[in-house]
Amino acid sequence: MFTNIFLIIGSIIYIWIVRPHTSVLIISSQLLAQMAIILFIINVNMYFIFLVIRKTPQRKIKISLANFSRKMMKWHIKIALTATFIIIGHASINIFHLGPIVGYSHLKMVTGYFSGLLLIPTLLAGYLRHKKASGFRKKLHRTVAITFVVMFLIHMLTSL
Ligand code: HEM
Ligand code: HEM
Repeated sequence: MFTNIFLIIGSIIYIWIVRPHTSVLIISSQLLAQMAIILFIINVNMYFIFLVIRKTPQRKIKISLANFSRKMMKWHIKIALTATFIIIGHASINIFHLGPIVGYSHLKMVTGYFSGLLLIPTLLAGYLRHKKASGFRKKLHRTVAITFVVMFLIHMLTSL
């Protein structure tokens, strides 16, 4: 959870202090991306919560985290869909407005396409896991979700 809080604060500092822009379009796009990645990071935090629940020998921690995770999971799908909706706005601004200026094969654009592409299997695997939780489906959703997060962090850090 500390790692995730650090990631959120780190992304805020990076986006707004290290990479400030003056164009209204780019600022809107950055703002959308910022909102969406906070939501995605909250979702991926479930991995660490479940991990601690599985590994901790302390019963008290197990029970309180299990209760906390139950509350968080009520929001998991809503958070995923809201963030997806927001990131579509971000991608559209960049594809339709920034692409023609910086070029569609710019590294920032390419890492963006990959992040967007990885979001689709993350959602699908989440849906499969929601329908029926087999060992394979659990592992699939977890692995694809983490790959997606690593990819969008690379995308965020790629310079424009
Ligand atoms: C087709 C998909 C995408 C394209 C073409 C794209 C393109 C870009 C571009 C050109 C920028 C830099 C300027 C700006 O902020 O507008 C950017 C920034 C950013 N993108 Fe994307 N993106 C895509 C998808 C995504 C996805 C799926 C995520 C995360 C889930 C994401 C997260 C971010 C973040 C956090 C920034 C801010 C970093 C900075 O200010 O340099 N993007 N994107
Ligand atoms: C794109 C955003 C998403 C991310 C980053 C994400 C990430 C995660 C992570 C990391 C876990 C914990 C996995 C584990 O440690 O076993 C999890 C669990 C889960 N996710 Fe997602 N997920 C997303 C979207 C979805 C969607 C769209 C659905 C369903 C339609 C979904 C359904 C589930 C379910 C049912 C669990 C298991 C909860 C439990 O064991 O009680 N996820 N997700």
